[in-house]
Amino acid sequence: MCYDCRPSRRSFTALLAAGAGMTALAACTPAPAPSGPVPTTATPTPAVATTTAVPAPSASGAPASSAPPSASLSQKYSLSDPASQWIIVNKHRPLTPLQFVPADLVQPRVQLAVSGEASFLNSTTAAAAEKLFAGAASAGVTMTLASGYRSFQTQTVTYNGYASTRGQASADTASARPGFSEHQTGWAFDIGDGGGACSFQPCFAEQPAAVWAKANAFKFGFVVRYPWMLNEITGYYYESWHLRFIGVEAATDMAKRGIGTLEEYFGLEAAPDYL
Ligand code: DAL
Ligand code: ZN
Repeated sequence: MCYDCRPSRRSFTALLAAGAGMTALAACTPAPAPSGPVPTTATPTPAVATTTAVPAPSASGAPASSAPPSASLSQKYSLSDPASQWIIVNKHRPLTPLQFVPADLVQPRVQLAVSGEASFLNSTTAAAAEKLFAGAASAGVTMTLASGYRSFQTQTVTYNGYASTRGQASADTASARPGFSEHQTGWAFDIGDGGGACSFQPCFAEQPAAVWAKANAFKFGFVVRYPWMLNEITGYYYESWHLRFIGVEAATDMAKRGIGTLEEYFGLEAAPDYL
């Protein structure tokens, strides 16, 4: 791992335009590294069995609510534009266009555990991620960027890998189909802890990086997008490693109100399965 070098933030599109290609991006990153969860190492054991929707866990102990955002936040950003920090993509809401590519991909100055396109985020998320990782470091918590942006093509490979090893039904509980992943928006990324033993596994939830992120990510504008026991709403089992940027105001509002999912927060229908 290349932990002591600090890659500068670089424009993804500028590098590609210069013909540098993806290999140039790996100059100070682990190599070779997967661009996302490796199907063969991801456990087929889900964090939870199929369950009915239950109230979201709340730091304050308050029950979850299906109330829409507070008036002060309503209609601030589009829920449909992939360039919007409030884009809601789930099994009922594919990206439009399906092969959307963020215009402002950059590499955040954080500890990388991945190379290539997956080390990039959109510029807003990258800036927030740098603050998040610094906050974790200040608390003595090691946090790595394990998988960020994934193109439609990469998501196709990732999803097909899951489907071929686990079958489509199981794959659909863990990996989004191409055009249905938050990773394709640049607004989401997966964290690791530098160790890797529990990467993308249910036991990651007990690792310091996940424990810290669950308690503190909202302060930096992030939510744990696929919480424990809410797979009947989100469509995915608990992913303690998957963080999604929505802005400090909205993330703090969700945390205060004990709302666990973006579907509930924005008053959208649950999306347990593809239509
Ligand atoms: N693992 C999440 C759901 C994705 O593939 O986007
Ligand atoms: Zn993820």
